[in-house]
Amino acid sequence: MSAAPVAGAQEVGAPVVYTPATPAHLDAIMALETASFVQDAWSREMMHDELTSIHNEYSVAMVGARLVGYAGLRAPERGREADVQTIAVAEDARGRGIGRALMERMLAQARARGMREVFLEVRADNPVAQGLYRSLGFTQLGVRAGYYQPEGIDAIVMRAVLGGEPAAMGAGTEGAR
Ligand SMILES: CC(C)(COP(=O)(O)OP(=O)(O)OC[C@H]1O[C@@H](n2cnc3c(N)ncnc32)[C@H](O)[C@@H]1OP(=O)(O)O)[C@@H](O)C(=O)NCCC(=O)NCCS
Repeated sequence: MSAAPVAGAQEVGAPVVYTPATPAHLDAIMALETASFVQDAWSREMMHDELTSIHNEYSVAMVGARLVGYAGLRAPERGREADVQTIAVAEDARGRGIGRALMERMLAQARARGMREVFLEVRADNPVAQGLYRSLGFTQLGVRAGYYQPEGIDAIVMRAVLGGEPAAMGAGTEGAR
């Protein structure tokens, strides 16, 4: 899957390469961020903090020199609960497994950091993302009414248990999408 060609990308037929994100990717990440989250894009400063936090692991999907996706996991050292902070794939590269590969990468990183559970929040009006998460073992925990402002869209809180006994929902989901 990770070697699938991306039609419409600048380098058609080039493989998708997944690497850790660095501040050098910030411009391209912000371009995709503002295109993907029109109403509630994070600021450049916030994204920079996300990329450089020792608690986080951000990844990018590259086709040649073009950034076609990014995703971020928050998995604090000595913690047991991780959060999917964000994920986005360029519109012309969607539906080709890149989002799934980024999610699988984050789940592997969460396991490697000793996490037991992964939480995320997803807009109630985003069935594509919900389908992706459910297919990876995430189940719905609850709903945060009107969480996404200014539109007032509900957030669905989801969790995947990586192993062992499931714990009660912690406070670690703030800031997740
Ligand atoms: C959500 C997103 C990251 C998925 O990325 P993607 O690369 O298109 O996802 P994939 O190609 O790996 O598809 C994974 C799953 O998503 C679902 N999916 C993808 N495209 C879909 C579509 N057009 N309709 C319905 N479901 C779809 C399917 O469950 C698919 O599983 P499958 O491969 O078994 O069919 C992407 O749509 C995106 O960036 N959306 C805008 C930003 C966003 O909403 N981020 C999530 C915030 S919570």
